[in-house]
Amino acid sequence: MTKNIVILISGTGSNMAAIVRSAAQQNWAARLDARVAAVLSNRADAKGLAFAQDHGIATGVLDHQAFTSRETFDAALMQRIDVHQPALVVLAGFMRILTPGFVAHYAGRLLNIHPSLLPAFPGLHTHQRAIDAGCKFAGCTVHQVTAELDVGPIVDQAVVPILAGDSADMLAARVLTQEHLIYPRAIAQFLSH
Ligand code: GAR
Repeated sequence: MTKNIVILISGTGSNMAAIVRSAAQQNWAARLDARVAAVLSNRADAKGLAFAQDHGIATGVLDHQAFTSRETFDAALMQRIDVHQPALVVLAGFMRILTPGFVAHYAGRLLNIHPSLLPAFPGLHTHQRAIDAGCKFAGCTVHQVTAELDVGPIVDQAVVPILAGDSADMLAARVLTQEHLIYPRAIAQFLSH
């Protein structure tokens, strides 16, 4: 059976686009009988939705502001995801804290990318915090998602230098280029097991 991937985004979706491109260009989608079945967003203005539509991928928006609790939002999101019977759910800049029920439902098939070298700097503003701490290196981490935020088993990481005079934006851009390399690779590896 084809392995469906559902990707959740909240914004630009450059990681999602890198995954879609890599799946075709590196040929792992065909090799692994996998495909990006849907891209879902909690924000209607997420730029990445247009890219997905242009690539013939089903898209959907579920506005979290229309729900009274995290639990009801996550339950509705699960329904939208499960239509696709995903082998893998990929968080790609999905800026929502997930409920334990959601995480348990996708246990073992839920990946996230985080813009720091976990376990350093979980949470937000990772690049500024790394600069402020005087770190010489920063990076990104693909990890399995568990109930605790940014803590699950590490699947892959990439390291970049922090250069003198870096702003958070400069560092974020350098890290993002590495995210685009390691996330598709981690997904292909995950699906090949
Ligand atoms: C990426 O840098 C990703 O690591 C980060 O948001 C950005 C999304 O960019 N994710 C988190 O901070 C999750 N805590 P994208 O929308 O262009 O892929």
